[in-house]
Amino acid sequence: MALSQKMEQALNDQMKREFYSAYMYLAMAAYCSAENLPGFAHWLELQAREEAGHAMRFYRYLEDRNARIRLQALEQPPDGFKSPLDLMQQVRSHEQMVTQEINKLYALALSEQDYATQTFLHWFIDEQVEEEKMSTQILERLKLAGDNKSALLLIDKELGARTSSE
Ligand code: FEO
Repeated sequence: MALSQKMEQALNDQMKREFYSAYMYLAMAAYCSAENLPGFAHWLELQAREEAGHAMRFYRYLEDRNARIRLQALEQPPDGFKSPLDLMQQVRSHEQMVTQEINKLYALALSEQDYATQTFLHWFIDEQVEEEKMSTQILERLKLAGDNKSALLLIDKELGARTSSE
């Protein structure tokens, strides 16, 4: 059974959002690198790679369903963050927005009785729980650190230890 036109469009739009996420995280990595926070930069770069992987999951799924793949223009990512705290706040609200979009896609798949797309989206529903949890943890630790530079450097060191982009 072919994807509906509406679903095809919605999946293409989400693929774009995931590519944009990669772009956004890379812009954030560049900022942290320039601010001498190599651990944050490393973590954000891995995050960018992970997002490109998410986008490719949508690409493959559209391909598998014989649907049209449309790559769209990406917006300019944010620049000039006020602080690591400001940056992490933006990360968390971005991930909350992505969760809402995944939920909308799922609601569409339910309304269309599109079972294959529902199954495909299960992975993303679980992933968004992780993404929100992780960004909240880092954000809360940054709040605890406040103006304490040593605490910030400790968080930077911890983030620098991330090994996987999954
Ligand atoms: Fe692909 Fe961070 O959501």
